[in-house]
Amino acid sequence: MPKPRVLVVDDDANLLDSMRRQFSANFEVVLAHSGQHALELMASSEPFSVLVSDLKMPGMDGIQLLSQASERFPDTVRILLTGYADLQNAIDAVNQGFIFRLLTKPCPPEALGHALAEAIRHQGLVEAQRQNYSLKRYKRLLESIVRAFSALVEARDPYLSGHQVRVTALALVIGQELGMGPDDLEILRIAAMLHDIGKVKVPADFLNRPGALREEEFSIIKMHPEVGYEILKDLDEDWPVAIIIRQHHERMDGSGYPQGLHGEDIVQGARIIAVADVVDAMCSHRPSAQPGGRSRHAGT
Ligand SMILES: [Fe+2]
Ligand SMILES: [Fe+2]
Repeated sequence: MPKPRVLVVDDDANLLDSMRRQFSANFEVVLAHSGQHALELMASSEPFSVLVSDLKMPGMDGIQLLSQASERFPDTVRILLTGYADLQNAIDAVNQGFIFRLLTKPCPPEALGHALAEAIRHQGLVEAQRQNYSLKRYKRLLESIVRAFSALVEARDPYLSGHQVRVTALALVIGQELGMGPDDLEILRIAAMLHDIGKVKVPADFLNRPGALREEEFSIIKMHPEVGYEILKDLDEDWPVAIIIRQHHERMDGSGYPQGLHGEDIVQGARIIAVADVVDAMCSHRPSAQPGGRSRHAGT
């Protein structure tokens, strides 16, 4: 694991050298001799976890530096080092929220080491919070995309209206009853919502025409699990949604399609969706799921 990066800013070269000696075992210590130099380093290199600045420096002082850093690099935790004589300025900096810790000079190495460790911990918490927020946003985005694709395929087939949502609800009940964990249920949910996505490739007049299908029409409809697999096969391998979709018309006795798999060679998610799919077909007024309309109950 890489060491946390710490940027130390002081116009005193001796102090900078001693900081590097004291802390480079635990941190990647980078030195800057002025506020301007520090901002240039922050803008041109990997992000720093912590910025430690002296208060009194020629040109840009510590408060100006930390103020600018808080705006431009808010993820970097800021520590101010100051002499007692500068205390009022330092208090202002604290109250204006520019800094995480205020330390007085000369600062014992243990106190500074402790403050650095606390700063890194604080940054980790902030980062975790941000990642959590991003994760929630991505989940909402994923949900919108899944619903949009689900609606897209259902919009082409009037008999499919609401089918994938109903199959999802039923599949989740079956999955819960079978004791599936939350991750597997989530994969099952997404696979069920999209299980007929391959029908985007079926000509719309096959889907919209009432009455029995001809053999050649049915053979085209039978391609939809494979087409769905092709559409989604590049999803992360931890998300076997495409495999479930490919197998949702397989049957335990090997009579299904497209691969004619048997029994437990069919993944559990596909077996669950196959059951939910047939139940929904039985409860819906589907004109024909097979050529000649000989069975409306084979799933869709
Ligand atoms: Fe299907
Ligand atoms: Fe279906």
